[in-house]
Amino acid sequence: MSEKSRYLCQGCGFVSPKWLGRCPDCGSWNSLIEERTGGTRTSRARTAGDADALPLPLDKIFADDAPRIPTGSAELDRVLGGGLVPGSVVLLGGDPGIGKTTLLLEYLGRLAASRSETVLYCSGEESPRQIKLRADRIGLFTDRLVVLSQNSLEPVLAEIRRLRPVAVVVDSIQTVTTAALESTAGSISQVREVASQLIAVAKRLEVPIFLVGHVTKDGTLAGPRVLEHMVDTVLYFEGENTRDFRILRAVKNRFGSTNEIGVFEMGDGGLREVANPSRLFLREDRGELAGSVVTASVEGTRPFLVEVQALCAHSSFSSPKRGCSGTDAGRLAMLIAILEKKIGLMLADQDVYLNLAGGIRVVEPATDLAIALAVFSSFRNAVVDPGAVFFGEVGLTGEVRGVSNPEFRVREAAKLGFRTCFMPRANVPRVAGMEREIAICGVSSLEEVIDRMIV
Ligand code: TYD
Ligand code: MG
Repeated sequence: MSEKSRYLCQGCGFVSPKWLGRCPDCGSWNSLIEERTGGTRTSRARTAGDADALPLPLDKIFADDAPRIPTGSAELDRVLGGGLVPGSVVLLGGDPGIGKTTLLLEYLGRLAASRSETVLYCSGEESPRQIKLRADRIGLFTDRLVVLSQNSLEPVLAEIRRLRPVAVVVDSIQTVTTAALESTAGSISQVREVASQLIAVAKRLEVPIFLVGHVTKDGTLAGPRVLEHMVDTVLYFEGENTRDFRILRAVKNRFGSTNEIGVFEMGDGGLREVANPSRLFLREDRGELAGSVVTASVEGTRPFLVEVQALCAHSSFSSPKRGCSGTDAGRLAMLIAILEKKIGLMLADQDVYLNLAGGIRVVEPATDLAIALAVFSSFRNAVVDPGAVFFGEVGLTGEVRGVSNPEFRVREAAKLGFRTCFMPRANVPRVAGMEREIAICGVSSLEEVIDRMIV
């Protein structure tokens, strides 16, 4: 190869033979960095299988349903689609400090301890001592978790071949470099090359590998976005540093649904699984307060109940304020317009604030009904029955439309002791037989709910 140097956009991977101030592909400024290829052959195509593999007819391919390896966490297993798939590569992304290292150390440590098999933890960020201190903090005592503090890929690959671990963690992908390339750690070509070599090893030895990736706001490190196409599963660990709960979400999964979420709580002794998220987001002592309405949301197959809170206050601004946290501000604006037009609420001189209690974020339209009711309830200072749950999408004419998975929502409401469920009439046939547990009120318009709720 005669080419000696090229310029790569660190944001999207665009390649240019000359330097440019702005990437023509993703539009980011100053993102092109010079990288020397030095004529080295890269292994971009090595993602699955052998190079000399022959084409096979579909019915000759032996696809035994490989047994999944349960990790030490039911929440993590659910998000993975029922446990770890041997040979799969999972990318775990998330803001620094959100708990990625803690998550993998804790639950893969438990996996190692319970199966008495080796888990290899490669850390390019922390020393073995730091990892030990953290393991002590989360109460992990096992000799089956092996820590390798290493920034070069080659010794990591050698250890994987030698130890034949049941699972491997590379924390983080941005800190590992391969000698095959000259570019610096964290640059896009390093990250890609390191990942493709790890993927090849995972497939060949059938060992699952977790790659940890930081998502940085300023994009100084090559974000894990370029890796998303290469790996089997992409998980994001989300949450706010100021809150204790964390949500693990699959955004891509070749071996399971991407709708599932796992809920964890960060405490002094590491992460704790939250089997019943409704209890996290719903106060036990909710009283009869105007502006508070409970709704049932579903992520994947997981329902949880959330308290929607609204506050309407007379505005002293010429254009009133609309504050919204935990849901889509555009949706709130639309519901305010519907309340004005269809219910005749005069909200033009009101500041309206909306909040989902507990700091959770829900953006599905099924929460519309509860949001509209919460605003109405605060404005009129009328209490909505605290023993009732509301869900349904509200259309522009004020009609209440059916939503997905009504049975999960109703079951969760009944399980938590709610007495009544207001829901789209179109969804009522789907919950036939549940009336014994909870009173079901099918409604077809926002007006109808308000008439029935507030006297
Ligand atoms: P960490 O796993 O290092 O995050 P990441 O690998 O995503 O950068 O998490 C670090 C944070 O978690 C840090 O702010 C301290 C907190 N933490 C606890 O609150 N309790 C614990 O038991 C542990 C181990 C960490
Ligand atoms: Mg970390």
